[in-house]
Amino acid sequence: MKVTVVGAGAVGATTADNIARRELCEELVLLDIKEGLAEGKALDMTQTAALLGFDTKITGSTSDYSKTKGSDVVVITSGLPRKPGMTREELIGTNANIVKGVTQNILQYSPDAIIVVISNPMDTMTYLTLQSSGVAKNKIIGMGGILDSARFKCYLSMALNCSPNDLNAIVIGGHGDTTMIPLIRYATWNSVPVTEFLSAEQQQKIVADTMVGGATLTKLIGTSAWYAPGAAGAALVESIVRDEKKLFSCCVSLDGEYGQKDICLGVPVVLGKNGWEKIVDYKLNGDEQAAFNKSADAVRNMNDVLKM
Ligand code: NAI
Repeated sequence: MKVTVVGAGAVGATTADNIARRELCEELVLLDIKEGLAEGKALDMTQTAALLGFDTKITGSTSDYSKTKGSDVVVITSGLPRKPGMTREELIGTNANIVKGVTQNILQYSPDAIIVVISNPMDTMTYLTLQSSGVAKNKIIGMGGILDSARFKCYLSMALNCSPNDLNAIVIGGHGDTTMIPLIRYATWNSVPVTEFLSAEQQQKIVADTMVGGATLTKLIGTSAWYAPGAAGAALVESIVRDEKKLFSCCVSLDGEYGQKDICLGVPVVLGKNGWEKIVDYKLNGDEQAAFNKSADAVRNMNDVLKM
């Protein structure tokens, strides 16, 4: 197995680090436009191999895409991150050009690769990658819902004073502060609905905290987060390369599922060696479906910016 991570910044390097530590592939390539950055981080990570006991071969490259040749999975993290007070949507113009260019270069050397898109605004970048590449829809996967679901579990676990690993909880819809939908009605703690343990106010607070989970970190750190995004990116790669068929919320192309089409949006999917293999239909109630439609409208408006 060969995996490439494009963008050796905070999120790209953390994704690569998680992939290497867990030996998700034999060969890992880290690529960045900034001279020496990917080579340096690849070498630094390689020097952890003897300490951590992994054997993944890590190569760094400054924009030499021939080194990425034959990649099975490519993770795109290149682009600007948010600064405090910025929305993910404000990154659209710059990141669209970067993501489109990177995709073309990648496909030249790895035409069969499964592409995981992380760059923001992620729902629109995933749609752009699908539209501009001609790659089969099952091979284009946006990372957002898995991260938002992990944040949802984090806030739930703090309120319930339990391990996040005993929780089941999912966030669907767009990967934006106002477009994501934490499905609290479906969240369970050891198979019991969490709504049985939490007051209405507690539930509202957990949902609100989850929705601004990224912005809270951006305010604290001064730029956007990387530990959880990197772990989330690696978890998607793991389910693909190990053909685990795990159920994750991912941004994928919808063709009538959840009442939407011609859009990429976060829904529960099964991830395996073919990319996303199946969309799982959670039965949404009226309010949840209305929120999903509103989320789709917001993402569609943003996608329209690309057409101008
Ligand atoms: P960063 O600034 O630390 O790293 C971005 C890297 O991309 C830089 O090293 C830069 O040199 C590189 N780059 C820029 N143009 C390039 C090109 N044409 N080819 C190759 N490399 C290029 O940013 P960070 O924090 O790693 O975030 C990366 C992206 O991921 C941002 O757009 C951010 O908003 C997004 N993000 C998405 C999340 C999600 O859940 N989908 C979560 C966190 C961040």
